[in-house]
Amino acid sequence: MSKPQPVHLSDYQPPAYRVTHTELTFDLDPASTRVEARLTIERHPEAAPNAPLFLNGEQLTLESLLLDDEPLAESAYQHDDKGLTVANVPAAFTLATRVRLAPEENTALEGLYQSSGMFCTQCEAEGFRRITFYPDRPDVMAVFRVTVIGDATREPVLLANGNPVERGELEGGRHFVTWEDPHPKPAYLFALVAGDLACVEDHFTTMNGREVTLQIWVEEENLGKTDHAMASLKRAMRWDEDSYGREYDLDRFMIVAVNDFNMGAMENKGLNIFNSAAVLTHPDTATDAAFQQVEGIVAHEYFHNWSGNRVTCRDWFQLSLKEGFTVFRDQSFSADTNSAPVKRIQDVAFFRTAQFAEDAGPTAHSIRPEHYIEITNFYTLTIYEKGAEVVRMLKNLVGWEAFRRGSDLYFERFDGQAVTIEDFVGCMAEASQQDLTQFMRWYHQAGTPEIDAHGEYDYVNAEYRLTLRQRTPMTPGQTHKQPLHIPVRMGLVGTKSGHDLTLTLDGEKRGKDTVIHLREAEQTFVFTDVAEAPTPSLLRNFSAPVKLHFPYSREDLAFLLTEDSDGFNRWEASQRLAMLALNDLIAAHRNGVEKVMDTRVIDAYRALLTAPVNDKAVLAEMLKLPSEACIAESQPLVDVDAIHAAREFVRQSLGFALRDEFMAVYTANVSSKAYAPTPEQIGQRSLKSVALAYLMAVEDEEAIERCQAQFDAGHNMTDVRQALTLLVHSSRDELAAPALKAFGEKWAHDSLVMDQWFSIQVSRPQEDVLERVKYLMQHPAFSLKNPNKVRALLGAFAQNRVNFHRLDGAGYALLADAVIELNRLNPEIAARLMTPLTRWRRFDDARQALMQAELERIKQEPLSANVYELVEKALA
Ligand code: PHE
Ligand code: ZN
Repeated sequence: MSKPQPVHLSDYQPPAYRVTHTELTFDLDPASTRVEARLTIERHPEAAPNAPLFLNGEQLTLESLLLDDEPLAESAYQHDDKGLTVANVPAAFTLATRVRLAPEENTALEGLYQSSGMFCTQCEAEGFRRITFYPDRPDVMAVFRVTVIGDATREPVLLANGNPVERGELEGGRHFVTWEDPHPKPAYLFALVAGDLACVEDHFTTMNGREVTLQIWVEEENLGKTDHAMASLKRAMRWDEDSYGREYDLDRFMIVAVNDFNMGAMENKGLNIFNSAAVLTHPDTATDAAFQQVEGIVAHEYFHNWSGNRVTCRDWFQLSLKEGFTVFRDQSFSADTNSAPVKRIQDVAFFRTAQFAEDAGPTAHSIRPEHYIEITNFYTLTIYEKGAEVVRMLKNLVGWEAFRRGSDLYFERFDGQAVTIEDFVGCMAEASQQDLTQFMRWYHQAGTPEIDAHGEYDYVNAEYRLTLRQRTPMTPGQTHKQPLHIPVRMGLVGTKSGHDLTLTLDGEKRGKDTVIHLREAEQTFVFTDVAEAPTPSLLRNFSAPVKLHFPYSREDLAFLLTEDSDGFNRWEASQRLAMLALNDLIAAHRNGVEKVMDTRVIDAYRALLTAPVNDKAVLAEMLKLPSEACIAESQPLVDVDAIHAAREFVRQSLGFALRDEFMAVYTANVSSKAYAPTPEQIGQRSLKSVALAYLMAVEDEEAIERCQAQFDAGHNMTDVRQALTLLVHSSRDELAAPALKAFGEKWAHDSLVMDQWFSIQVSRPQEDVLERVKYLMQHPAFSLKNPNKVRALLGAFAQNRVNFHRLDGAGYALLADAVIELNRLNPEIAARLMTPLTRWRRFDDARQALMQAELERIKQEPLSANVYELVEKALA
């Protein structure tokens, strides 16, 4: 096998040939599908007349090749494992190919494959080349006409992008449908679905009065699980009109749910294909978190119709152009639809855990990478979530009105084109008349910037001097970092009054909340007329994706926890306060010293629990301790056992000390109302869950009864799952075993619920987990070929810090075995599953050696480009 080669952004060349029309005919068959393509091609006016034509094509059997309807002599073209090169072609011509492929053998789930008996496609980023020979790059955009031929009984439903224009019966029980999509699109947005599907239909009237038919296609048995996705879709369509002035542009919009899917969902033009886990919900089977996720993903894919499809990426280095912007849009939508502070808190908690870890590891890359070997490895938290943070900063820098004008300009100027990140930022600069040159560094520089802040109050002159120093640690391939433009939103809270003080900076009155701009390596901001000693509230609402260090005392944090006017920073204070206590306990554990609980944390929690409650969901977030993964991110070296022990100690100390308060909160929030995924109900359930978790941490007898009752009542999946998790994670097998058994039997028929059943039991802290994983891998409901199952069982196990990182290395070996097998079946999933092993440098010597050994073992295999690229980086 030849070594996979990297692609470089600096090598970008515009295509020499463009395809204006693409006509495809699929004659579907699991073992041998025939694909005929007829491409209308033109040479680019600026391209050399002798430029060769290159068409990507992989794993295809070529049966026929015609240029302007004449067969091409074998000497006229070259065919290798990457594609076809035709040396001499006219300035305009048609090229017709016929190929064969075998969907039933496609376990990589890229290109045309089968899932639960139906045919479906996944083309982003480079899957179309496994369907037909084609210039498979996003800057080639064509109008598609697609005919799908299938078996009338096995595949009564035949779908593709756009509108159906013709249908008919054929001999031998076959039938066909022809679809036309009038909007030119790159190949990665092509989609086809064929199978025995049922549909739920609804309608949406656009802002200009056009009627759009909305369809959600699912397997018959899932017809009762589409309401929430449909309602979310309609809300998203309206929101995009109201917030961004974007109207839908086809007569129908379809969503299809498939069981085997590598990612969450895909924005194919007019025919979004979804992982069934990202569409299907029902109060009995899906948790609040799942309901919210479905809403967010439905919106995300819909929003891509403009930010992604109408205006697309010039090349895959620009991936964050569509993903960063679209994630920002879906986050804003969810914030508007639900509780905005909770949405922000949850997004930031996740971001700081997972994206910061990526930035601190061997695969750290900038939002616009310079090179890659396998683009599917770059669908990352950096491209998506950090990309969204950067767009959010842009919005905050220029203000919503200029941002909206910039967005309008972008959609108008580049409609129907494939463009770059500079084009997007350029529109924002133009609309706002701001210089965003330094800001662009966010796109080029990898790593998490750190800000060291310190402040001094001068009583005599009534001045507060705030000094901010920034640095970005080295990342692989980027040793030298330049200062970034970092917007820091802040306030000064009067320590005596508890009020935000009016801010005067450089003689200018700024109100009680302002944004200061850090552009240099170090800057001092002098606030004048500061009447009393303040406690600074910094980086409000997480105004930039950075780590901010400030020497807060526990008293400062306890103060901000209740007095900060910024809800986000009240939560932040709760997390910082918990971290200070956790750090002491981690040190105590490492030094073998007796652990003592900081009573200030207990007092702060008591104050929270007994004060009048504004927003239950925010309160629940404040009562949650940082996760073990989040704590690990703040440590110079990760001590898995010390972190676990410290966190358990805090949970139990709080559980004992505040037993009655937690019980009161639990009881006050039990409800028998019919389930609805409303922000109020979700907040109530989440507060109730947090309280119960603390009580179960100390195995309080009354709490056990309540928990058992909550499980038995089966009121909704959110309550049931939480109760089951607490029972299964308790140390009492007489609680865990019967609950697991009952749940497993009740839901054996429901694949998505069984995923939860897998995850819950392999996340428990008890030592039997490794054996359990091995045993469950043989369970009839498990399959390595199904990405959701892999994530639910193996992915969840790799997040189980104490058990995955066992000191005998058995956790690592198990994961490596699975990676090796998946490397053959589904390279994309193999690479994702392997990620925790690549972070080996963060752990102690013994674990480092064990993890490295497993990476070396993987490296001995004949590797896919995906796993190869990751292993190379991890061991570099
Ligand atoms: N473009 C999809 C999204 O963000 C994600 C995706 C990428 C899905 C690649 C499948 C394959 O919405
Ligand atoms: Zn996306």
